[in-house]
Amino acid sequence: MSVVKILCLLLITCYLSEGKKIRGSRASVTAAVERGILGVKEPYVSSSVFRLFLGDEDTCTLDPLQLHTLASCGFNSSNPLIIITHGWSVDGMMESWVLKMATILKSNLVDVNVVITDWLSLAHQHYPIAVQGTRTVGKDIAHLLESLQREYQYPVRKAHLIGYSLGAHISGFAGSFLQGSDKIGRITGLDPAGPLFEGMSPTDRLSPDDAEFVDAIHTFTHERLGLSVGIKQAVAHYDFYPNGGDFQPGCDFHNVYEHISEYGIHGFGQTVKCAHERSVHLFMDSLLNKDKQSMAYRCSDNSAFVRGICLDCRKNRCNTLGYNIKKIRTVRSKKLYLKTRSRMPYKLYHYQFRIQFVNQTERTKPSLTISLQGTRDESGDLIITIDEGIYGNTTFTFLITLDKDLGELMMLKLRWEASNLWKNMWTRMKNIFPWGNQGSKPQLMLGKISVKAGETQDRTSFCAMNNDGQQIEVSQDKVFVRCKKEDPTLRRRKYNRKVEMN
Ligand SMILES: *[C@@H]1O[C@H](CO)[C@@H](O)[C@H](O)[C@H]1NC(C)=O
Ligand SMILES: *[C@@H]1O[C@H](CO)[C@@H](O)[C@H](O)[C@H]1NC(C)=O
Ligand SMILES: *[C@@H]1O[C@H](CO)[C@@H](O)[C@H](O)[C@H]1NC(C)=O
Repeated sequence: MSVVKILCLLLITCYLSEGKKIRGSRASVTAAVERGILGVKEPYVSSSVFRLFLGDEDTCTLDPLQLHTLASCGFNSSNPLIIITHGWSVDGMMESWVLKMATILKSNLVDVNVVITDWLSLAHQHYPIAVQGTRTVGKDIAHLLESLQREYQYPVRKAHLIGYSLGAHISGFAGSFLQGSDKIGRITGLDPAGPLFEGMSPTDRLSPDDAEFVDAIHTFTHERLGLSVGIKQAVAHYDFYPNGGDFQPGCDFHNVYEHISEYGIHGFGQTVKCAHERSVHLFMDSLLNKDKQSMAYRCSDNSAFVRGICLDCRKNRCNTLGYNIKKIRTVRSKKLYLKTRSRMPYKLYHYQFRIQFVNQTERTKPSLTISLQGTRDESGDLIITIDEGIYGNTTFTFLITLDKDLGELMMLKLRWEASNLWKNMWTRMKNIFPWGNQGSKPQLMLGKISVKAGETQDRTSFCAMNNDGQQIEVSQDKVFVRCKKEDPTLRRRKYNRKVEMN
């Protein structure tokens, strides 16, 4: 663990010490760019190599100067174009996810051109130098798209740029360097890089202006010394923050040993990369598991989300993570939250519980064991501790996630364990007053109980069976069922009858 910490510190020190240089040299980069775009005759020299992906490990290098290579490579101009752009490179090698992503896109979308941007020569540098290269690479992509438009009348809105880390900002720069009124169709930023981009103006990073539609997935925004690997701020129309965005399940530092046994000493790097690269795997998941599309919900922040108060889909407040997102352009960035599993398929089903406690005379922190039964499956026991304590009349809400769809909710079983202190007191009382009636058992009085499923937007209210009252005794398993009056078919029937009578 301490080695990982040192590694992070080294990286950060490197960002900080080189940070200043970059500001100084940005002007010259901009000047070079302007020369390239405005300054006419001299042939454009691209720093990046573009490879059309053909399948397996086969690629064909495109030469933007000799676009006849396009047709011979197998570029089909009636099909959409996806350009994948990698990030900063520590070892100068193309990361393995790039070919994997290309393969998945090609095999799932079929009629599509997949191009890989290779900017390793600029990416394999100290981080700040690599950052300096991002505008250059963005300009290279813009130039490729403009050439396609000119030579093949290929509309830029048929292009979808997918960029990881620094590649996300590169894709954004490609959008801003593009001449003319047409915009790139879509840019997807996969954990856009944070250092030297966080807090910058929209023209200096990926932003919603860079394409018709921009989405971003933030997976490693855990902050150290004021810096985070992934950018924290919203940079898109829809910004997704899986598991709060700062860290990801399955990437914990205790898994470092597992990673070392799997990857050797590079396991350290793998651990650091795990959460950052999770954005990539979440996106692949959306293509691979079509029946398990992850839903995310708009929320002010993650702490509100884990209280379960944000599972609302009205007015486009929810959306699908990944390739199949609903492309709705919004004026302001929307921040969306979701929980995921630690491995593929990542989808979890979100349930919001709302339990009302009534007339609670003593402040208590009850621990509840809950199980839900639906028409398709059951949840198993879920243990919830209400840490903030309840007193008087309190409505408590919380979020539960399950990796299976329960179907329509039918039954809810609740069991309440009082704190040991309270239990002891009660046992002592019983010893002192053994004749005390059963009614003196500690009870929790419950009011309304409801569960809302985020994925279906159905809210189910639960009532005690046989008008048994909503109270629950300590260590008692109490069963609640779907309230009768809530039955939508009944309500509809009643309504219909009314209509008939009229
Ligand atoms: C281009 O793709 C379309 C499908 O979108 C296909 O019908 C057509 O035959 C392809 N053209 C060539 C030259 O392969
Ligand atoms: C709660 O207490 C009030 C009086 O303080 C009483 O009127 C009410 O019926 C009680 N509610 C329940 C559900 O016991
Ligand atoms: C709880 O609400 C009930 C009405 O539903 C009220 O009669 C009672 O006094 C309230 N109890 C407390 C402790 O606020």
